[in-house]
Amino acid sequence: MSEDTRATELLKRIPREFTLGVATASWQIEGDSQGRGSSIWDDFAAVPGNIKDGTKADPACDHVNRLEEDLDILADLGVDAYRFSVSWPRVMPGHQAPSSSGIDFYNRLIDGLLARDIKPVLTAYHWDLPSELEAKGGWLNQDIHNYFAEYVDLLAKNYGDRVDRWATFNEPWVSAYLGYATKMHAPGLGVPAAGLESAYRLMTAHGAGMTVLRDHKVSSPGIVLNLTTVISEDQAAEPAREHIDSLQNKFWLDLLAGRGVSEALMAGTQDITDWSFVDQDQLSSIAQPIDWLGINYYTPIRVSSQATGQEPSAQGQDFSLYPGTPTGFQMASRDPRTEMGWEIYAPAMTSTLLQTSERLPGVPLYITENGGAFDDQLVNGEIHDQDRVDYYLNHIAAALDAKDQGVDLRGYFAWSLMDNIEWAEGLEKRFGIYYVDPTDQERIAKDSAKLIQYLAKNR
Ligand code: NOJ
Repeated sequence: MSEDTRATELLKRIPREFTLGVATASWQIEGDSQGRGSSIWDDFAAVPGNIKDGTKADPACDHVNRLEEDLDILADLGVDAYRFSVSWPRVMPGHQAPSSSGIDFYNRLIDGLLARDIKPVLTAYHWDLPSELEAKGGWLNQDIHNYFAEYVDLLAKNYGDRVDRWATFNEPWVSAYLGYATKMHAPGLGVPAAGLESAYRLMTAHGAGMTVLRDHKVSSPGIVLNLTTVISEDQAAEPAREHIDSLQNKFWLDLLAGRGVSEALMAGTQDITDWSFVDQDQLSSIAQPIDWLGINYYTPIRVSSQATGQEPSAQGQDFSLYPGTPTGFQMASRDPRTEMGWEIYAPAMTSTLLQTSERLPGVPLYITENGGAFDDQLVNGEIHDQDRVDYYLNHIAAALDAKDQGVDLRGYFAWSLMDNIEWAEGLEKRFGIYYVDPTDQERIAKDSAKLIQYLAKNR
């Protein structure tokens, strides 16, 4: 089947009311670090070796100065919704007095989206914690939920009348395990017990944020998690599979569903923490109903009890990210892979949606991120990113397969609108459907942007 036919066939399967959107995050695109306070990612990027190519926050995509151009690109794409995150240190530098210029920037973004008939989907926390709060212990501070609630209150007061959908957090698993259990991300603590405790405290902040958002009666508050399907390659790998599934998926869904921290997880991590920081009142706050759940899906996780001959692991797939995993197993992702080393396997997106709808029934689901980093070639001003086009065709179809099987899936967001700072990987890993020229910031639509535009405009 030719690519055009595949796109036409896919289009027929997408209902008009299904949300199609694209996503970004503040630190990855904004630039203009002078216009805001400092965040843990600025501190992390300042240490040589932390970010592979030495990238710093500026200029990123210079989005703050190119807001109108980027809004016009979104309008041209024809998407229904745009998912962005607010930089906490831009609107509340140092978690002190609010910054009127910072608040105004997101007012212009939100109003610009609405003027173009695009729904604003706001994430409060996409990893850029004010440095001053990290100095107080960051996500290990037992009052961090109160600081987060103050920040969310500021957002709700300013934007609550116009934002269509709210997420308290983006991928708290990454904050906890890449930032606190290991040193892969900011703040780079590298203490396994801190990973488990910060995971819990991030969720107490989610609960506190939900309470604030409900008090302000904002439209559709929820949360975004990175969930996936964990596959054992052989029966003997089942104990490792089970433990990874607990930390990656079940922990968050158990807390949201009111099931607390499972006995199995406590037993599997008893040599690392006694979980004495868990508090019953906080558990009920965390378990308050959410209006929707966002899932960021990229790749499955495979574990094996045997050497597989494949590369042992991919970016972000490492046993140190899963404290307490029994030893003697291997990560075993298969080919084909993206530039991140992440296995491309769309059926695991379907199974992840099915599994999540069983673990947290009754909550509408969105794919809030999905996409791939590929080795794009700019030739004569064009990028024919066929591998990314294939990735999107297969994964959007896989998401719709889950919907056909009864999952209440309401929408899909491509990651990302444009090439941006891929955190510790720097600028070399490109996820955009728009290419961003690092020398002059020109945005160029890749073939994948044309696919998303075709799907968005022709329903
Ligand atoms: C998840 C994160 O939310 C986003 O910031 C990141 O760039 C993508 N995945 C790709 O790794």
